This record gives sequence, C-alpha cells and structure tokens, in this order.
Amino acid sequence: MKRLIILLAVLVGACGGNEASPAIPLTGEALIVAGEDSYQRFCAACHGADLRGSDQGPSLLSIVYEPSHHSDFAFVSASKNGAPAHHWGFGDMPAIPGISDAEIGAVTAYVRSVQEAEGFDE
Ligand code: HEC
Repeated sequence: MKRLIILLAVLVGACGGNEASPAIPLTGEALIVAGEDSYQRFCAACHGADLRGSDQGPSLLSIVYEPSHHSDFAFVSASKNGAPAHHWGFGDMPAIPGISDAEIGAVTAYVRSVQEAEGFDE
C-alpha cells in the first residue's frame, strides 16, 4: 500500500511540472540515498555503518528486525522515544535528538532496502 502511495506521488509529481515543490516528498532511490545519509549520521555509531551492529547496539539485519516482527512504526518509536533493552544486552536505546520525521522515514526506507538486498542473518 505504501509503495502505491509513493508511486502515485511520483506520477503526480511527474505530471505536475513543479518537481521543486517541497510538498512532494522524496521517493524511491532519492529517499533511500537521503536515508543512508541520515542513517550514518544518527544510527551507525550503535547499529554499525554496515547495519551489522557494534558493541553499542544490535545488527539491524538480525531476523529480529524483519518487517513482520518490527514494523516501520518500531523505527519511528525507537527514534523518537528510544527503546528499552529487551532483546539484547546492549542496554537501552536512547531517543535520538534532532532527527526529523522525514529523516526517520528515509532511514526506515534505507534500512528496509538493505534488508531486502542482503537478507537477514538468522
Ligand atoms: C546509542 C546507541 C544507539 C543509537 C544511536 C541508535 N540505536 Fe537503535 N537500538 C540500540 C539498542 C541498544 C537497541 C536494542 C534494544 C533491545 O535490547 O531490544 C536498539 C534497538 C533499535 C530498534 C528496535 C526497537 C524495538 O522496538 O525493539 C530499532 C527499530 C532501532 N534501534 C532503530 C534505530 C534507528 C533508526 C536509529 C537512528 C535513527 C538508531 N536505532 C540509533 C542502540 C542505538
């Protein structure tokens, strides 16, 4: 469903002739590129530059984070409110200061694209 909305946004954008309008959000590849940038800035210190985790946080390619177990909303909630330690022994994830809703959306699209491309660890 979300893909359909994104596709419609692209089509409307393409026909509207005003690509510069800020009302039309980033989509597709541009969204993922922006998401990678935000991911490296806000998330990589703990979840690893390659998403495979660090000594501060878990791999986001763990099967624990497949979409059916952690929905996209989990990314919004974790970024805004933090996440108490419950799956691992790294401690709590703190809320991420200064990240916007658009950046969270882009980060989520980026993480999903890497999950799709690389598959899950176990
Ligand atoms: C300071 C370290 C740190 C940073 C920075 C960080 N995380 Fe986390 N994150 C963690 C830890 C630790 C956990 C595991 C909590 C647990 O034990 O389940 C976690 C868990 C999560 C979860 C799962 C939440 C749940 O409901 O179980 C998501 C989704 C997530 N992080 C996304 C992100 C995203 C997106 C960013 C960047 C915007 C980010 N994290 C930045 C440390 C971090």
